[in-house]
Amino acid sequence: MSSPTRLILDTDPGADDALAILLMLASPEIQLEAVTAVHGNVGIEKTTRNALAILEFLNADIPVARGCSRPLIKSPHNWGESVHGASGLGQAKLPEPKTEPVGLHAVDYLIQRFLAEPKELTLFAVGPLTNIALAIRKEPKFAEAVKELVVMGGAIRSGGNVTPLAEFNIHEDPHAAHIVFNSGIPITLIPLDATYKCLLAPADVERLLKTGSPVAHFVRDVMADYMAFYSKYEGFAGCALHDPLTVAAIIAPELLHLEEHYVDVDVSGGVSTGKTYADFMKVSKKPANMKVALDVKGREFVELFLERIMSFIHAQGGG
Ligand code: BDR
Ligand code: CA
Repeated sequence: MSSPTRLILDTDPGADDALAILLMLASPEIQLEAVTAVHGNVGIEKTTRNALAILEFLNADIPVARGCSRPLIKSPHNWGESVHGASGLGQAKLPEPKTEPVGLHAVDYLIQRFLAEPKELTLFAVGPLTNIALAIRKEPKFAEAVKELVVMGGAIRSGGNVTPLAEFNIHEDPHAAHIVFNSGIPITLIPLDATYKCLLAPADVERLLKTGSPVAHFVRDVMADYMAFYSKYEGFAGCALHDPLTVAAIIAPELLHLEEHYVDVDVSGGVSTGKTYADFMKVSKKPANMKVALDVKGREFVELFLERIMSFIHAQGGG
């Protein structure tokens, strides 16, 4: 196998964020080197604490940097707590982390890491894009130092999940998304169009629970509130694996239907604020700025996700 993709994850854990971290640690194609926390599903105190606690629980000695506590311009919302539980981690009760975040703010940490090794590190973003937009604005060489950026966010042909039009991560900081999308960084976008096809069902969680492993119990507990939300508001038992699907861009790109388009976000402040749109007909004459996943072999991805978590559990001596 070729050498693993060296990766830094910007995240707002977050139930499905936790599963994205787990999937990364369970995937030999990826070397997760650092985590930067951002506001989003819950406040920055909790997302930072959750990132540290998840990594400790999974025995991963990886630095965490605390990032921005609010969007660039708009007021933050607290939609996330009703979806991810008050702590951000559903019903999971992880011990208080023993480790502390690194001494640098996440924006400075990102700048330092990417400028130290230009074009060597891949960046994943599965929360609002505030930290990354600020890194771009603060350090003009940041954008060109990023090898690739994979973003969970947006709803292109799909409807939104926080407004009829907009997806949470982009809606939470649309101005940051606009900066990132127009930065010149090579981007792969994983929007709701694809993630809503990757549904983790209660029967899938039962399969993991047969191992009796604490990791399987964590998956059940962290997703409990998320699944209850989906059942109540979206009408199906189970939940979408939004953030974990980003990992497919590295471990199973053949499952994604990717198209190159110019994509931007509405920052006008009206009813469609935070809506991501693709210039399918090329009317703007702007060159494509990203690859966007408009479809996915959803069940195949969920099976791959389960396989990887099972292997992780076995490698840890469980099941
Ligand atoms: C995104 O919003 C968050 O609630 C999830 O963690 C995911 O990153 C899905 O819209
Ligand atoms: Ca997230």
